[in-house]
Amino acid sequence: MDWGLQNRLSRIIRQPQNRALMLAVDHGYFLGPTARLENAQKTIGPLLEYCDSLMLTRGILRTSVPPATDTPMVLRVSGGSSIVGEDLSREDITVDIKDALRLNVSAMAMSIFVGSKYEYQTIVNLGRLVNTSIEYGMPVLAVTAVGKEMSRDSRYLSLACRLAAEQGAHIVKTYYCEGFEEVVDSCPVPVIIAGGKKTSERGAIDLTYNAVQAGAVGVDMGRNIWQSDNPVPMIRAVQSIIHRNNDADAAWDMYNQLIKAT
Ligand code: R5P
Repeated sequence: MDWGLQNRLSRIIRQPQNRALMLAVDHGYFLGPTARLENAQKTIGPLLEYCDSLMLTRGILRTSVPPATDTPMVLRVSGGSSIVGEDLSREDITVDIKDALRLNVSAMAMSIFVGSKYEYQTIVNLGRLVNTSIEYGMPVLAVTAVGKEMSRDSRYLSLACRLAAEQGAHIVKTYYCEGFEEVVDSCPVPVIIAGGKKTSERGAIDLTYNAVQAGAVGVDMGRNIWQSDNPVPMIRAVQSIIHRNNDADAAWDMYNQLIKAT
């Protein structure tokens, strides 16, 4: 792996802990103005100092993040469908590598939809994105998107993660499931988990802890942080699991103490 690519990767997966706290705010690319992300600048501002990297689209990066930030950016480069459209799996690459470089991002991210109608298109797109990205030393994060009709079990998620890694993705983002160790063990590149729909704060803390215990290097979490009534205590609690090896009880205590202190 070349130096530039490794350098970018190490900004996302922090060393020597080999852990990553990525804050996901890319939801608008298919959901539009998602609840509590309507004004992205306001949502991102207080959280930026606590995440290792921010995952977003170029539109939100240009309009809603201060260019003086030191936080590494993970740029979503796929899209083409919306929540009101026909098929969410019909995505293509929408951003050129030149724009990713101009924006000085640390990785590019795209979704694959294994088992969907557009499986072939999205997997081939991933291979092509990797071809381009390695030429420029740019890591690729593959997101294993799961359709409503598909079960998020370890068999399916192992398949999707392994396919992404086989195409050359440098990091894979997926969902936590029972038997998650199997997913991590059969994926030869680092795995991070999405938080999924908003659940209780304690639930999201448990999810983070369980995923890291099972071998995930961290999270790419969005709604369970910024849809919380207490987003800063929430991201700090998650950060304490990822970077300070807190267990779920300690992180939960920390969350409640931070609320009391504000
Ligand atoms: C979904 O494809 C988006 O890429 C989100 O970034 C991802 O789902 C993570 O966000 P959340 O934790 O809200 O699920």
